[in-house]
This record gives sequence, C-alpha cells and structure tokens, in this order.
Amino acid sequence: MLYNLLKPIIWQINPEIAHEIVIKLLKNNIVNLFLKSKPDEILKCNLGNIQLPSPIGLAAGFDKNFEVFDKMFNLGFGFVEAGTVTPLPQTGNEKPRIFRLLEDEALINRLGFNNKGLSVIKDNILAKYSKYISNKLGANIGPNKDSTNRIEDYVTCYNSLVKFTDYITINISSPNTPGLRDFENKEIDDLLNELRRNRQNNKSIFIKISPDLERNDLEQSIDKILDYGMDGVVLTNTSISRPQYLQSKFSSEKGGLSGKPLQDKSRESISIAFKITQNQIPIIGVGGIFDYNDVINSLKAGASAVQIYTGLIYKGPCIAHNINNELVNYLRINGLKNISELIGINH
Ligand SMILES: Cc1cc2nc3c(=O)[nH]c(=O)nc-3n(C[C@H](O)[C@H](O)[C@H](O)COP(=O)(O)O)c2cc1C
Repeated sequence: MLYNLLKPIIWQINPEIAHEIVIKLLKNNIVNLFLKSKPDEILKCNLGNIQLPSPIGLAAGFDKNFEVFDKMFNLGFGFVEAGTVTPLPQTGNEKPRIFRLLEDEALINRLGFNNKGLSVIKDNILAKYSKYISNKLGANIGPNKDSTNRIEDYVTCYNSLVKFTDYITINISSPNTPGLRDFENKEIDDLLNELRRNRQNNKSIFIKISPDLERNDLEQSIDKILDYGMDGVVLTNTSISRPQYLQSKFSSEKGGLSGKPLQDKSRESISIAFKITQNQIPIIGVGGIFDYNDVINSLKAGASAVQIYTGLIYKGPCIAHNINNELVNYLRINGLKNISELIGINH
C-alpha cells in the first residue's frame, strides 16, 4: 500500500537515479527494517541440484555489482541472480538509457553491461560470503563490449566466480552489446564446447536466451544446450521487438523491452523448450511476472522457477513476499503438497 502511495513521486524521478537511490536504501538496511520474509516450507523446490526456499527469484540486472543480493533474500526472494559481470569494469551506453512505459507496465533499457568489473565484484561477494551461504546466489556473466576474445571473457568470469556462487548464467542474449546474440546460433558450438572443457565441478551452468529467436533456432539452441551437458536455461532476456499495441511515448526507444508485453513470448519460449527438455534440465521463466497467477502459468508451461525484475518496479519491494503467500494459499486450496507438482502440467 505504502509503495502505491509513493509511486507517483517515484515516477517523477529519472529511472536510473531512482534505481541508485533504492540500492543505497537497501545497502543501509532501510527496506529490511520493514520486512523479514521467510517462505513457507511448501514452496521449497529444486533447480536441478540446487535447493530453493521459494521458486521466486530476482532477475539479472537489478543488482549488477552484487551490492545488495543478501538484502533481497529478506524480501522473500528464494534466489538472486546478480550481474551481468564482465571481466573489466565498463560504463555502458550513453544516458538516458532506461525508460518507463507506464501505460504498458513495461521498461526499455539499453544499459550495455555497465558494471564495476570482476575484481570489485568478487570482493563484494566475499564480503558477504558467510551471510548468504544458506541462500542461493547465481552470477550472470558476459564479455566486455570491446573484447577481442569474448569466449575467453566468459571463461575468465566463470573461473573466477564459480567457487563463490551456486550457479553461473551465461548471458548470450542481451540486445545491448552488439553481436552478442551471434552466440545463440552461429557461434554457439564454440562457446558451449569451451564451457564444457572448463567446467570445474558440479556447479550448474545455465544459458540465458532471447525471446526474439525464431522457433527453429530456439529449438536448435535447446538441443545444443542438452548435447553439451549444460544444466538449465533462462527464458528469456528482454526483446528488441515492439508489439503494435504499446501505448507509451517511449515505445520506440532502442533497447530491450521487459515487463507485461514480454509475458506471452517468454511463456511460449518456455513451452517450446519444455517439449524438448522434458524436465531433464530446469527452465527458469523470466518475463512479465507480476503476480502469483503469472507464476503458476509459467510453471504449468514448464518452468521450474521464475525470476522478476520489471514487476518489482511496478509492484514494489513486497512483490516476492506477496506472491509467496498467495502461492501457499493456492496450493492449500487445490490440495497440492508442493509447488513443483505444477511444473509442465500443460503438456
Ligand atoms: C534495467 C534492466 C537491466 C537489465 N540488465 C540485465 C543484465 O545485466 N543481464 C541480464 O541477463 N538481463 C538483464 N535484464 C533482463 C532481466 O534479467 C529479465 O530477463 C527481463 O527484464 C525480463 O524480465 P521482467 O519482465 O521481469 O523484467 C535487465 C532488465 C532490465 C529491465
């Protein structure tokens, strides 16, 4: 309720500055004064060999520098994917580069992997290591924009972070680094081969895919992800396409579209992927998750867990806590013993 009252004020602030303020408040424990959420046992579930307290995760891009991931667990998130991290720090694209499409409950961003780089980020993780040990942290990694060997960048980040995180997500789908999406088709074998060669232990490697692939290309990517022994897929990143019905004056800004208008595409991708994976590896569903119904629909389509970014901006810091509670009610009313019973039942 409080968030709804504050929203008109928040909407007056430039989106990137608002984000910086929120990160500062989280760092100083202000938000956590109000909420210490612990998901009900009935929401426990697995992401491959990773046990989660709840299937609701925070999507990559919110905590780019691993500064507040420990605080997000208190807000009810069952896992956090931080990053994208690149080996060297980079400032990203020119500002302004985040736009709120209020009428469409969406965002467009063209940040371009702005982050403090591997060295600072590793220190940030280590500073909190003992505190998050029982919670689940994923690192989303990518190459520097002007790197001469992008595959080496992925491997460098992987080797550096694998020991301190529960899983690594390989981001080959950001629309804001030119040429990155080539790894989704013509360069996928080279990348997956190198990742397989460099695997160090049984820590999971997930691959994050875009919603803009043609069906055939998506199917081929999923086949390859299985062939090369990867452990899961994250579906999806933001989209470069723009549905005709968008209302906001910002709808033609360049960048990746997220939020409500991404929901159908993301869910369709989950469905297509599940038909191939048949639950051999988990799918993390991302895109337009705003309430518990959205979560249920993504799980039914084949996701084992979901992640949220844009929903957090529109619904506020209690979104994971509220969805957790609503899911518990739903499971009890429908006589289900565990949230995982919903996975893939549409098929
Ligand atoms: C401002 C912003 C920054 C993002 N940065 C990243 C990023 O660095 N790496 C990444 O893999 N995805 C990034 N994403 C994509 C989200 O992780 C997610 O895949 C996408 O926004 C769809 O989910 P949503 O509709 O819940 O926002 C970003 C999204 C937004 C809105």
